[in-house]
Amino acid sequence: MNNSESTTEKEVFSMPRIGDKAPEFKAVTTQGEINFPSDYKGEWAILFSHPADFTPVCTSEFMTFAHLEEKFNKANCKLVGLSVDGLYSHIAWLRTIKDKIKFNGMENVEVKFPLIEDITMEVAKKYGMIQPGEHKTQAVRAVFFVDPESVVRAIIYYPLSLGRNFDEIYRALIAMQTSDKFNVATPADWEPGKDVIVSPAGSCGVAEERMTSTEDLTCEDWFFCTKKLDKDLVLNEVLKS
Ligand code: BEZ
Repeated sequence: MNNSESTTEKEVFSMPRIGDKAPEFKAVTTQGEINFPSDYKGEWAILFSHPADFTPVCTSEFMTFAHLEEKFNKANCKLVGLSVDGLYSHIAWLRTIKDKIKFNGMENVEVKFPLIEDITMEVAKKYGMIQPGEHKTQAVRAVFFVDPESVVRAIIYYPLSLGRNFDEIYRALIAMQTSDKFNVATPADWEPGKDVIVSPAGSCGVAEERMTSTEDLTCEDWFFCTKKLDKDLVLNEVLKS
């Protein structure tokens, strides 16, 4: 291996982690210029990347996200897409989707959320969306959940060949909002209406209290306590925020 090869191999792309402030950038999009995350302060944002315009999996994903956009907006969440393609390619692709593509019962789908042009890969590199082991220039399917304080709260990565599950993306958003509002955790496969987890006892005294509590708790053991949380209460709180 010569020197230049070893430098290329060693190129490291940074990646924000859960709990970090979302890295800042200014970008041109199909809806005009945006400043991220400052334009989204006070609301949630989902920043997601896709490998390339005019590819079938990405097309199915964009149609699905566009179809669900209002549902995400009602949960105080805006969508922002990105690929390492130029603005005119983005515009042409979105026009083609609207005019020609039918998928999963959807047609005539207009993508109204911003799609970032990132030919320089500046944003993709900042967010670790380029994973050289998968592809040197195409972004993987990354999903960043950024909260109203501009903090990265969850990250999901998928390989190029795997289309995302948008029910899970919505479920994760609502679950995090529920944790914030009600100071609880959410167990496996949680959805609004299902029992939530009360944070684990941090002392022997609390553990004992939990087991003998007359409060509305169900404790399988001192460390595993759940309580009911009304579905309408969750949805009213989350959807009004
Ligand atoms: C697609 O979106 O269809 C795709 C993109 C890159 C590699 C494989 C599939």
